Amino acid sequence: MRVEPAASLVGHIAVPGDKSISHRALLLAAIAEGETRIVGFGRSGDTEATIAALRALGVKIYEAGEDVLRVYGQGLRGLVPPRVGAIDCANSGTLLRLLAGILAGHEGRFELTGDESLRTRPMERVAEPLRRMGATVETAEGGTPPLVVEGGKLSAVSYELPVASSQVKSATLLAGLYAEGGETTVVEPSPTRDHTEIMLQAAGVRIVRRPTSVSVWPPERLVLGEVEIPGDFSSAAPFIVAATLLAGSEVTIHGVGVNPHRIGLMNVLERMGARITVFNRRRVGGEAVADLDIHSSELTGAKLHAREIPGMIDELPLFALAAASARGDTVVRGAEELRAKESDRIEALVDGLRATGAHIRATPDGFKIRGVPTRLRGGRIRSYGDHRIAMLGAIAGLYSREGVDVEGAECVSVSFPGFFPLVDSLRSQASQ
Ligand code: S3P
Repeated sequence: MRVEPAASLVGHIAVPGDKSISHRALLLAAIAEGETRIVGFGRSGDTEATIAALRALGVKIYEAGEDVLRVYGQGLRGLVPPRVGAIDCANSGTLLRLLAGILAGHEGRFELTGDESLRTRPMERVAEPLRRMGATVETAEGGTPPLVVEGGKLSAVSYELPVASSQVKSATLLAGLYAEGGETTVVEPSPTRDHTEIMLQAAGVRIVRRPTSVSVWPPERLVLGEVEIPGDFSSAAPFIVAATLLAGSEVTIHGVGVNPHRIGLMNVLERMGARITVFNRRRVGGEAVADLDIHSSELTGAKLHAREIPGMIDELPLFALAAASARGDTVVRGAEELRAKESDRIEALVDGLRATGAHIRATPDGFKIRGVPTRLRGGRIRSYGDHRIAMLGAIAGLYSREGVDVEGAECVSVSFPGFFPLVDSLRSQASQ
C-alpha cells in the first residue's frame, strides 16, 4: 500500500467501538444470564475471533446490525468444550488470555491456540495465577500457545502481577468469579486499563478497587442487559498524531473513550505542545467518553515517566513518530513489554522509522530519538504483520516528503478494517 504525503487533514470522524471493551462485552455476555444487547460493537479481525470462539463454546450470538449484537448468555458455568479441535484465538492475545480465565472455572478440557504471531507470545504469565487458583494449565515449550486449560474447582488467591498487564489482571479476576473462599485480589505494579473491573461492576459483581490492587467476590450471576461501547482511543490515535503533525489540520473525532488508563498518548502530546480540546464529556456504561478537537501544532521532545507506559502501551509506535518530528531528544525506557506484542514492536518501529529518515535507535527496553521538526523523507515500512506498525507506516507516509510504501498493510483489519478509507476521507476534504 502506497501512502502519499498529505498537506493537512480536515473533517469530522468517528472511529469503531473500543476493541478491549468489545472483547469484554462478548465474554461477559456469554457467561451472563439472559440476553445482552451490545451496541457500538467494534468489528475487527480480533473481535470476530471472539465471536467465533464463543460460538465454538456453544454461545448463541445474533448479528442484529453492523455494530449491534445480541448474545444469549449461558450462565456462569455454561460454556462447553467444542467436540473437535482447539479454539482459534487468531491474532488476539486479549481473547486467549481472558478466555483462559473464564474457562479455568469450567469443567472440561479446553485448548486455546492462534495464528503464527500469537503462537510466539508469552502465556506462562496467565497460566501461573490460574494454576495457583487450582486449574491445570499447560503451555507449549517456551511458554507459548497452545494453552490447555482443565478447570473446575478454584480457590481464591491474592496474586501480585510480575508485569503490568491488564490481560493477566483480567484473566485472574475472571477466574475469581468461580473461586471458593472469598475474594480474589490482584496487586498491580502500575495501573493498567480497568475495563474488566468497570464491566463486572455494571454486571452486578462486587468489586473493591484500591490504588494498587483490586478484589472480586464470586457472584451468584452476571446480568448485563445492554452494553454501549465507546469509540476506540487506540484507533483515534493515528488521527490525533497526523492532525497534530500536518500544518493546517483541524480534525474532530466524536464519541471517543477517554478512560484515564488509555489516554497516556494524549497527555504526553499535550505536554509536548499539541492542541487537543476534549469536550462533550459524558459517561457511557461506566466509561468516560468525549469528543476531541485536534489542531496542528509544533512539538518539543518529552520525558516519559515509567508509570505512564501502560496507559500508552499500544500508542508507543505513534508516539515515536511524534517524538521523531519534535524539537529535541526523547528517551523511552521501561517499555520492554513492547517486545511481546503482535510483533517485537521496538524492533519494528525503529526499523520502520529509520527506513523513512528518522534518527532513532533501539535499546533493550525502549528507544532513543533525536527529533527533527520537519517531515520525514519517506521510503518503505514493513508491518511485520502488526496492525499498529502498519498504521504507523501510513501516518509516517502522510507526514513524509516522498510518501511511504507500507508492506503488509492489510493487517490493519486486525483492529481497524476501515482505516485507509477514513484516512482518504480526511485527506480529500483537505484538498477541497
Ligand atoms: C489489552 C491490554 C494490553 C494491550 C492490548 C489490549 C486489553 O495488553 O497492549 O492491546 O484489552 O486488556 P497487556 O495488558 O498485556 O499489556
